[in-house]
Amino acid sequence: MAVVASKSQLLLLCLLSIGIALASAATLFTLQNQCSYTVWPGTITGNGPPLGGGGFALTPGGSVLVEAPVGWSGRFWGRTGCSFDASGVGTCVTGDCPGGLKCTGGGATPTTLVEFTVAAPNVDGKDFYDVSLVDGYNLPVEVVVTGPSRTGDCNNTDCRADINAICPPELRVTDNSSQVVACKSACEQFKEPKYCCTGDFSKPETCPPTDYSKIFKQACPKAYSYAYDDATSTFTCTGADYQITFCPANS
Ligand SMILES: *[C@@H]1O[C@H](CO)[C@@H](O)[C@H](O)[C@H]1NC(C)=O
Ligand SMILES: *[C@@H]1O[C@H](CO)[C@@H](O)[C@H](O)[C@H]1NC(C)=O
Repeated sequence: MAVVASKSQLLLLCLLSIGIALASAATLFTLQNQCSYTVWPGTITGNGPPLGGGGFALTPGGSVLVEAPVGWSGRFWGRTGCSFDASGVGTCVTGDCPGGLKCTGGGATPTTLVEFTVAAPNVDGKDFYDVSLVDGYNLPVEVVVTGPSRTGDCNNTDCRADINAICPPELRVTDNSSQVVACKSACEQFKEPKYCCTGDFSKPETCPPTDYSKIFKQACPKAYSYAYDDATSTFTCTGADYQITFCPANS
């Protein structure tokens, strides 16, 4: 009985480990809070496990690393003005979600959304990502692409502007001390086909930008400003990790 593994067995073992490492290559997201106030990131998953338990607190200067498996898709957003008890039950002024601290469903709009599909099958392992204002805005966000082995365009994207400060009165969301804490999209506020790209406006060709969506686009040119915004708002990269920062410097 040979107790010592043969060279070929060792090689096989080695190849197997590499295979497992490649197959389980995860995408890392570092969520950072550079706001002067606590942000409670929320995440929901379209395909795959909830990341970071669905949500957690990030104090000013804090950061948390979460790991997404291949094929994961979902979104991140920053909740503000939350108060949770010790068991995570509570509510937020913006971005509130079912489940309390650990979201079990999508957040209440308006919020600035960061959307990801990681290593989408069928498209050469590319990640797709965007910052979306289609459901409104609550705080500035930046996505920075990191990782030494990334390939492709891999552009950073963001919405750095303070849209609350330029939000038209009819779209404003205020807290109980009349501070503007979020800005609704025109679709959310008016629910009309021309703003939501529904009905007669359900195709890109029949749903041009509106005076409202243009306010968002001018403030944040890299972000989606409405459902059929031009192709400048979706970005792709292969083999990257990502840093998502709330209130990035100079925002
Ligand atoms: C990425 O950035 C480069 C350089 O600024 C630019 O030429 C390119 O169009 C950008 N790609 C996308 C998809 O916006
Ligand atoms: C205003 O909201 C805060 C937090 O959302 C809450 O603690 C406070 O009691 C509210 N104040 C009033 C006057 O409703």
